Amino acid sequence: MWKQLCSRKRSEDMNPTNSDNRNDREPYVVTSKGHTAAAINAAAKAGEWIKNRQGHVKELGSKTSAQDLVTEVDKGVEQMIRRLILTHYPDHAILGEESVQPGADALTAALEEGQKHDYLWIVDPIDGTTNFVHGFPFYCVSIALVVKGELTVGVIYDPIRDEMFVAEKGKGAYMHGIPTSVSAEADPGSSLVAMGFPPDRTFAQPANMAGLQQILPQIRGVRAGGSAALHLAYVAAGRVDGYWEVGLSPWDCAAGVLLVLESGGKVTDTLGNPYDIGTRHVVASNGRIHDFLVASLGEAKATGYNK
Ligand code: IPD
Ligand code: CA
Ligand code: CA
Repeated sequence: MWKQLCSRKRSEDMNPTNSDNRNDREPYVVTSKGHTAAAINAAAKAGEWIKNRQGHVKELGSKTSAQDLVTEVDKGVEQMIRRLILTHYPDHAILGEESVQPGADALTAALEEGQKHDYLWIVDPIDGTTNFVHGFPFYCVSIALVVKGELTVGVIYDPIRDEMFVAEKGKGAYMHGIPTSVSAEADPGSSLVAMGFPPDRTFAQPANMAGLQQILPQIRGVRAGGSAALHLAYVAAGRVDGYWEVGLSPWDCAAGVLLVLESGGKVTDTLGNPYDIGTRHVVASNGRIHDFLVASLGEAKATGYNK
């Protein structure tokens, strides 16, 4: 079971690309009942619940298409996270994937409604449902808090590896209390880059295939693990140098975006504009290979903004 460890403020002069001594720092134990602690607590409990149900799915359903899966575990875990957050913050709003009708219009409306509130939690109960269903051990819980329009807390929990990634606006990002930082790789040819394929096969799949075709021959390798949130956490932790995907939703990336930014990385849309919570086509990187990724997607007309 994950221990409740969290952040120590990153020192002003710390070079985010320098990993020396990072592992020597003593983890800081969370004692407050703050927003971050509430998110960590909810993610830890939800993750444990999910892991124990892998291989025991009873109700397998689909949403927008046969590839867009949902199980009783996704729905149950979202309810659990809602209850845990609302116990502490009954007047906060929650945008959870399983509480929004499938489709772009419903998402836009739900996001607009959520953004009317000063405190908006954005929850993906299982990011990587297809992996969960198949027993492919790469999925996570993703919880973000947006305060007055600003991403303030991001927590991603991988229950398989017991890895809790935590970011707080202006205070850095951590994994079990140890600061995370993006990689220093500046050469696209030596880069490992993650990407993904949303279930949508008419719009998103051709765009992501075109991007793959353009980028793969120019880099060391591509990973498409099936969890946008974990890929973003891996950019933050320097395990991959970049990530892109056309066709995401806010719950896929809100927490991960803050992790990347607070780890010294960069996040934009696929045109290179700053990320905001409504951005659906996302590029995240260590900053050093960012222009390469954005330019490559543009050259391949693979930004998702071409039609
Ligand atoms: C999906 C995963 C997948 C990504 C899709 C997402 P879900 O989320 O993050 O990796 O390619 O775009 O929809 O449905 O498993 O929560
Ligand atoms: Ca998701
Ligand atoms: Ca999900």
